[in-house]
Amino acid sequence: MRLTYYGQSCFMVEVDGKKILFDPFITPNPNAKHINVDEIKPDYIFLSHGHGDHVADAIAIAKKNGATCVGAAEVAGWLGKNGVEKVHPLNHGGPIAFDFGKARAVNATHSSSFPDGSYAGNPLGFVFTTDAGNFYYAGDTGLTMDMQLIPRWAKLDFAVLPIGGNYTMDVTDAIIAAEFVNCNTVVGVHYNTFDIIKIDTGKAVSDFKAAGKTLLLPAIGETIDV
Ligand code: NI
Ligand code: MN
Repeated sequence: MRLTYYGQSCFMVEVDGKKILFDPFITPNPNAKHINVDEIKPDYIFLSHGHGDHVADAIAIAKKNGATCVGAAEVAGWLGKNGVEKVHPLNHGGPIAFDFGKARAVNATHSSSFPDGSYAGNPLGFVFTTDAGNFYYAGDTGLTMDMQLIPRWAKLDFAVLPIGGNYTMDVTDAIIAAEFVNCNTVVGVHYNTFDIIKIDTGKAVSDFKAAGKTLLLPAIGETIDV
């Protein structure tokens, strides 16, 4: 699978010719000024929760590309109210079949409201099982025992985990999360966008290595094979 990183928790995974974008926060991100949002053409947009640093560009990108947006029922409702035509509401539970494979929503320990303060349902993570491989995007979350359920559902090829601390797991907890989900390849997100989530990336990589795991930190705009 190919993964392109767009800063904060925004990334796109190409699976079986389908482009799945996650949590677009690009135009307000000072670190992502070199990214041209018009060149991002997803088939799907998955949204983990309603916070601004995850949904900022969702409506505009969805409308421009006719992308199907997937998120909590409340997030899907908000998108629909804002003129997004194709939405798929879901909540924690069994896997849902899409044309690229299956996705299920899993627990994330966080909060969720829209930039205007209105209720956005529960924050979510997502587990994907596809013919091309399996992966987990944790969304914004602290370390939670619920992650130990994930190996029952999928043998993961990679996991996308927040590592910036303060609002989410830090590097130390993300290493434990990688153990919980039984995955040795982690793509780190949700770090260095703001001072409050600044980390030492060199130490993060070596801490993962010391735990027998690989932390991938693609540059903003970089595409990697995972
Ligand atoms: Ni958040
Ligand atoms: Mn966030």
